[in-house]
Amino acid sequence: MTERIHVGVAWPYANGPLHLGQIAGAYLPADIFARYNRIIGNEVLMVSGSDLHGAPITIRAERENTTPEAIGAKFHAEFLDCWERLGISFDLFTTTGTDNHREVTQDIFLTLLRKGYLYRDSMLQAYCPACGRSLPDRYVQGICPNCGSPNARGDECESCGKPLDPVDLNSSRCAICGGTPRFEQSEHFFLKLSALQEELAAWLSSKTHWRQNVMGSTRGFIDEGLRDRAMTRDINWGVPVPVEGFENKRIYVWFEAVIGYLSATKEWAHLQGDDAAWEKYWKEDAKIYNFIGKDNIFFHTLSWPATLMAYGGLNLPYDVPANEFLTIQGQKLSTSRNWAVWLTDYLEKYDPDALRYYLTAVMPETQDSDFSWEKFVSRNNDELVATYGNLAHRVLTFCQRHFGGVVPESGELDASSRQLLDEAEQAIGDIGDALGRCSFREALRTAMSTAQKANRYLDEQAPWKTIKQSKDEAARSVATVLGVLSALSTGLYPILPFSSEKLHASLGFSGSVLERGWKMVLPAAGQVLREPQPLFVKLDEAVIEEETARLGQS
Ligand code: MF3
Ligand code: ZN
Repeated sequence: MTERIHVGVAWPYANGPLHLGQIAGAYLPADIFARYNRIIGNEVLMVSGSDLHGAPITIRAERENTTPEAIGAKFHAEFLDCWERLGISFDLFTTTGTDNHREVTQDIFLTLLRKGYLYRDSMLQAYCPACGRSLPDRYVQGICPNCGSPNARGDECESCGKPLDPVDLNSSRCAICGGTPRFEQSEHFFLKLSALQEELAAWLSSKTHWRQNVMGSTRGFIDEGLRDRAMTRDINWGVPVPVEGFENKRIYVWFEAVIGYLSATKEWAHLQGDDAAWEKYWKEDAKIYNFIGKDNIFFHTLSWPATLMAYGGLNLPYDVPANEFLTIQGQKLSTSRNWAVWLTDYLEKYDPDALRYYLTAVMPETQDSDFSWEKFVSRNNDELVATYGNLAHRVLTFCQRHFGGVVPESGELDASSRQLLDEAEQAIGDIGDALGRCSFREALRTAMSTAQKANRYLDEQAPWKTIKQSKDEAARSVATVLGVLSALSTGLYPILPFSSEKLHASLGFSGSVLERGWKMVLPAAGQVLREPQPLFVKLDEAVIEEETARLGQS
């Protein structure tokens, strides 16, 4: 039975380049999951877009003496280019700056207002007298009332993860000039999260398949008791509040950006020429997955579901497989200190699949994990090149030399050949099972252990020796390994799409791995192989020092 799967990925702020923490955290797992679901025949829609609103982009525009529109347009174009080169297969990657997004957002806002889930109240808004401006939440800093961290931000505390309001902070200061902000009363619209607490708790109790870390922090928020939160702000950049008297305010970026999952689906439907097509991803048994980093958990497991409940008639997220953080060579990633690896820099020099491989192998699924250039190089050379690439290379070139570049007749299989092929077929099933559960590291381990077994088999069979006495025996082992390679090109396709398609073509298949589907197809005897091309490139050890030296440099 085919399922309808909506894959919504965190909307990156278009205020700077993408770094590997974001890729490992959200974009890569989302893409692997989307590709897997497509290849097994599900209907998949993968969407996201540039988050053009919020303070990060206005602050950068001010600093660079330009407009938020210009900053947004620049990085949006860069993101699109990165997705293409890294193979992140969005069905639509739009922005929060479209008329459609504004309309969908304002419709939800007004519906919640009408239903009484948004109400007016006043709250204290931070204003910095020295800077002469009202301060966005994250530009108020101070001591976290929850954990005591001295550098909590007004939107959340990065140390304990608690979502905050600027007034909650102790000894608050302006993040721009360090001055002491003044808090002034300002009228805003509040979302009645408190009224939805019970309903949210009941909904969460059905989510037994969620990752422990995601459920744990979500339950933590529930146990503390949900507070109503302001969903408008005193700023002039963002989606206008569609209510008279609020012309100088905007809808809170976190209320609005998540609505992008829905508005992007509607935009996609419109582009398909079928305006109603969005419904099949938001109603009935459609499953919605949101791939995000752990800092976005509250907004995806509570605040957005609350908005959806209040709105009514649409599905809530089925799963929110949030990842933990990726550290860079043992240190917390910091964009301001340039302790980060930028995706554009990576893609200029190295292969997309090498990155997809390594980031999957160390994906921070259950705890923070670390990226190091040393491990990147060694895993590329020892695993991708030596285990997988070399297996393909050895067998394909052998076939060119001894069997005229066609798949030989395997003849009757002996026990070890039979067993290896059975294991390869089993691996496709196991990999699929792991991918369906969003256990990406496990899926990769299963695939690579199959490649290792095939290498061992090949070494034992040694067709380069047996060919001297028995061409049939050599043919049997060669045909067997070609079968395993075909299985690997399928099993690894969601993770390594570029090399999988290359291998698929080298094995003499026409069409694409995606079209062939999630099954083991043995190359037929007589099938004409194509000139083998190397699947991966061995990296020089010098890369380690070169790249490490760039970290933290301005
Ligand atoms: N722009 C936010 C960030 O980079 C993420 C927004 S996710 C969304 O942290 F779903 F709300 F859009
Ligand atoms: Zn200030």
